[in-house]
Amino acid sequence: AQNEKDSQYIISSWAKDHYHKLLLKSDEGQGIGLSYLRQRGLNQTTITTFELGYSLDQWDDLLKTAEQAGYDRKYLEKTGLVVTRTDDAGQDTGRRYDRFRGRVMFPIHNISGRVVGFGARTLKPNDKTAKYLNSPESEIYHKSDILYGLYQARQAIRTEEVCYLVEGYLDVLSLHQGGIKNVVASSGTSLTDGQIRLIKRYSDNVTVLYDGDAAGIKASLRGVDMLLEGGLNVRVVLFPDGDDPDSYIRKVGDQRFQEHLDQQSQDFISFKTKLVAREAAQDPVKKAEAIRDVLQSIAKVPDPIKRQVFLQQTSAAFSIDEQVLITEYNKLVRTAS
Ligand code: CTP
Ligand code: MN
Ligand code: MN
Ligand code: MN
Ligand code: MN
Repeated sequence: AQNEKDSQYIISSWAKDHYHKLLLKSDEGQGIGLSYLRQRGLNQTTITTFELGYSLDQWDDLLKTAEQAGYDRKYLEKTGLVVTRTDDAGQDTGRRYDRFRGRVMFPIHNISGRVVGFGARTLKPNDKTAKYLNSPESEIYHKSDILYGLYQARQAIRTEEVCYLVEGYLDVLSLHQGGIKNVVASSGTSLTDGQIRLIKRYSDNVTVLYDGDAAGIKASLRGVDMLLEGGLNVRVVLFPDGDDPDSYIRKVGDQRFQEHLDQQSQDFISFKTKLVAREAAQDPVKKAEAIRDVLQSIAKVPDPIKRQVFLQQTSAAFSIDEQVLITEYNKLVRTAS
């Protein structure tokens, strides 16, 4: 019910304030958390704008402090801030501990600016647990309907008329700090329809800036077909292998990064055409497959005029007679539906 949800919003906001205070005011927060963020190049304005925080490296700092302040532990559990320990048979042992310990905290806001969950990065170089821990789904946190940074980016997406889509928290923070405020992150997971609808509320144009490794490029191909289906105009920018937008902007500076975006951004269909054409090389069988692969992406585009333009481009790129290509395209669309 509404009261249940309100209690979860309240505890999340309280936890966000608690972690933020620890980052700025506690010895451990300053010595470990803040110095890490500084070393990653983040300034005070960015830390404040995104309400970054730090969780103490203790089992139950959050739980204890919350209970002392009079909060009901039920909502700490419901939002996943506190974890219930179960025994081997899955029975509740009654033991409770903080999910996030000794990590830099990234509060995740919904579009009204309320905190619904957290991402948390380890600061231990050889941590056996995951580099990032995230809040679980809850009544207030539906991962498929959230984009990290959208609350801080929404105005800029409208005025710039494009949304930059990156993979990670640090990518959002570094670009925002570098003056590129129209940026959101899918947070490493594959895009969902809900996230695509969110973007569409602010702009029809998306530029995908994924990590410059093979996994990043693969992820972008899958995600982009969904963006096309959503009726968005999609462009892609690649980065040198091993770089992500965060490491790249730190390397080359704000101005050269912006130039890289302006000069290297390419329409997705052209990008995919080049990519698959290169893989196919001169092999006729592979080339035919590559063409069909591109046609599959074109088929996702809802606008018939845009589809027509893409078909023309593809026929030119592969030196295939346009009529032949269109016949093949129609065959492919019929068998798909
Ligand atoms: N991610 C996650 N859990 C993991 C690894 C990644 O949730 N175990 C998500 C995070 O949102 C992360 C994003 O995927 O920001 C991208 O992952 P990656 O590129 O590995 O991390 P970076 O954001 O580049 O973080 P850093 O620069 O601190 O290594
Ligand atoms: Mn859900
Ligand atoms: Mn990556
Ligand atoms: Mn990174
Ligand atoms: Mn990355």
